[in-house]
Amino acid sequence: MLSKYNIVTLFPNLIEAWLETGIISKAHDNDLFNISTTDLREYGLGDYRQVDDAPYGGGPGMVLMPEPLDNAISSVTSDINIFLTPSGKQLDEPLIEELHTFKSANIICGRYEGFDQRIIDIHSDYQISVGKTVVSGGEVPAMFLLEAMIRKIPGALGNSESLLTESFTDGKLDHPVYTRPEIYKNMEVPEVLLSGNHKKIEEWKKNNLRDI
Ligand SMILES: C[S@@+](CC[C@H](N)C(=O)[O-])C[C@H]1O[C@@H](n2cnc3c(N)ncnc32)[C@H](O)[C@@H]1O
Repeated sequence: MLSKYNIVTLFPNLIEAWLETGIISKAHDNDLFNISTTDLREYGLGDYRQVDDAPYGGGPGMVLMPEPLDNAISSVTSDINIFLTPSGKQLDEPLIEELHTFKSANIICGRYEGFDQRIIDIHSDYQISVGKTVVSGGEVPAMFLLEAMIRKIPGALGNSESLLTESFTDGKLDHPVYTRPEIYKNMEVPEVLLSGNHKKIEEWKKNNLRDI
C-alpha cells in the first residue's frame, strides 16, 4: 500500500494543520502512514528565494520555475511523482487502487498558473486532477487525494466495513442514511429501517443504492 507521502508545497503549514484532524490524525498517530513536507520556498533562487517568473510568450500570472521544483523533488526519493493539475487524469477509485500498488510518492502542489512544462516532462509519473474545476493551489487537491488514499489503508477507518458499502464501490452510489430522531420536521425514517428485520433492511439498502 502507498503509505509514505512527501508533499512538495509552498504552504507546508496547510498540510500540517490538516494532519491534526479527525481520522487522519488518529491514523497518523498510529503510524499507519508517514507524511513529510518539502517547502518549495527553501529551494527558491537568490536572496528572495524566487520560485516563480512571468510566462514566456506573455499572458497573465506567474509560472513555477523549473529549477526550484527540480531540486525540491529530487531531495526526496519516492517510487512515483504525482503532479496535481486540473489538466491531469480525473481521480477515481481505479486510479486510487493503482496508486496503492506503489509504496511511496512525492505529491507536487502547484500555485499561480502552474508548473513549467519541462519539470512535468522530467519528473512526472502521474498528473492528477481532483475535479473538473480550478482551485488556487495544489494543497487542497493534495489533501483530497491523501484522504482518499489513506482511508483505504487497513486500520485507518474505525469501521472498515464502510469501505465495502460506500459510494463508487460496485459502480453504485450509497443509499440514503438516517439517525435519530425517528421523526424530524414531520419527516419519518423509512419504517423498514426501524423494523429490526435484517433481511428486509438489507433488501431496502440494496434497492436504494443510487446510480452514478
Ligand atoms: C490556479 S491553478 C493553475 C491553473 C492552470 N492555469 C490551468 O488553467 O490549468 C494552480 C494550481 O492549483 C492546483 N489545482 C487547481 N485545480 C486543480 C484540480 N482540479 N486538480 C488538481 N490540482 C489543481 C494545481 O497544482 C495548479 O498548478
